[in-house]
Amino acid sequence: MGKILVTGGAGFIGSHTVVELQNDGREVVVLDNLSNSSEKSLERVEAITGKKVPFYKADILDRDALEDIFSKEDIDAVIHFAGLKAVGESVAKPWEYYENNIAGTLTLVDVMRKHGCKNIIFSSSATVYGNPAFIPITEECPKGVCTNPYGWTKSMLEQILSDIQKADNEWNVILLRYFNPIGAHKSGTMGENPNGIPNNLMPFITQVAVGKRDHLNVFGNDYDTPDGTGVRDYIHVVDLAIGHVKALNKIEENAGLKIYNLGTGHGYSVLDIVKNFEEATGVKVPYEIAPRRPGDIATCYADASLAKKELGWEAKYGIKEMCEDSWRWQKNNPNGY
Ligand code: NAD
Ligand code: UD1
Repeated sequence: MGKILVTGGAGFIGSHTVVELQNDGREVVVLDNLSNSSEKSLERVEAITGKKVPFYKADILDRDALEDIFSKEDIDAVIHFAGLKAVGESVAKPWEYYENNIAGTLTLVDVMRKHGCKNIIFSSSATVYGNPAFIPITEECPKGVCTNPYGWTKSMLEQILSDIQKADNEWNVILLRYFNPIGAHKSGTMGENPNGIPNNLMPFITQVAVGKRDHLNVFGNDYDTPDGTGVRDYIHVVDLAIGHVKALNKIEENAGLKIYNLGTGHGYSVLDIVKNFEEATGVKVPYEIAPRRPGDIATCYADASLAKKELGWEAKYGIKEMCEDSWRWQKNNPNGY
């Protein structure tokens, strides 16, 4: 196979995936508009792998820029991370989310097919299950009603890419539904770098631990879960990254259309995470119980057996390592990149 284009490759999951792809001997090209990331992440990748990361600062909505990349580089497959992902912002700015995520992907896919590149791995999310019909969630679980425009962009893009593959079976489309990615590279030089107040649990916890925030608000303790707080399937970002390497191998077998959950199969509550973080790092995380966050569900965790069976992939890091690695990154880089 020729080169792999990684859109959104300067971002959290993308940069970790570039490391694993280069470690696997793949030739990678990164495209990112840096709207939610820093080029420094790619310098850190290069320091880890010892390999150059060819980088194009470009937007997936910019057809000319995409044409230029596909003309210059011999690209055989795209791993498509580029997208906006802040749930609350998507409620306030639906047009921007549909434009960026959906119009951007349509433009990308059009340029791909014009250049005869019909292999794509797409970053989807467990959010497409809505309030899941059953737990643990298998890929057979029906898609649900999303509670925000961000979630709908994932759900709609899954449909769009599936329809494109059905109409032209030269396409190989793999939809990866991520559960809750946390953790960071073991080196402590790469990790999640949220702008402003973090929306997600782990970056909030690490910012409390490093003294940037006073306490964690636990959003609700009256859910129907063992301790009343929300239960999720947290997965180490390096495991997630390796899942993409395995999905690429599957693409090479002419996979057609495939959908995989990438999770660990274990559910942890908010208070479990606080406790594990404190035990793993020795740092206290003060918290207060706050009202439920609108749109949240009680419980979400994967049945990840299909990815194991068909991709030979299984998450190997446990919750303690996820906490340790998130903390190492935050402690070494209190202000991000
Ligand atoms: P991230 O914001 O760190 O990475 C996304 C990258 O895409 C950023 O570097 C951003 O600059 C870039 N980008 C955005 N719009 C672009 C555009 N129009 N053109 C070019 N580049 C653009 O987010 P992440 O956490 O690494 O997520 C990667 C993908 O995985 C996203 O599609 C996200 O929706 C999806 N996902 C993430 C999570 C999660 O919890 N982090 C969960 C499920 C799915
Ligand atoms: C969120 C997104 C979802 C996205 C997923 C992975 C929302 C509503 N959903 O899911 O679309 O696919 O991230 O990126 O944002 N919590 C607190 N206090 C906090 C932050 C979170 O108690 O300050 C709780 C939440 O209520 C939840 C759990 O921690 O029970 C995990 O929250 P979060 O990290 O935001 O992920 P999700 O809500 O699962």
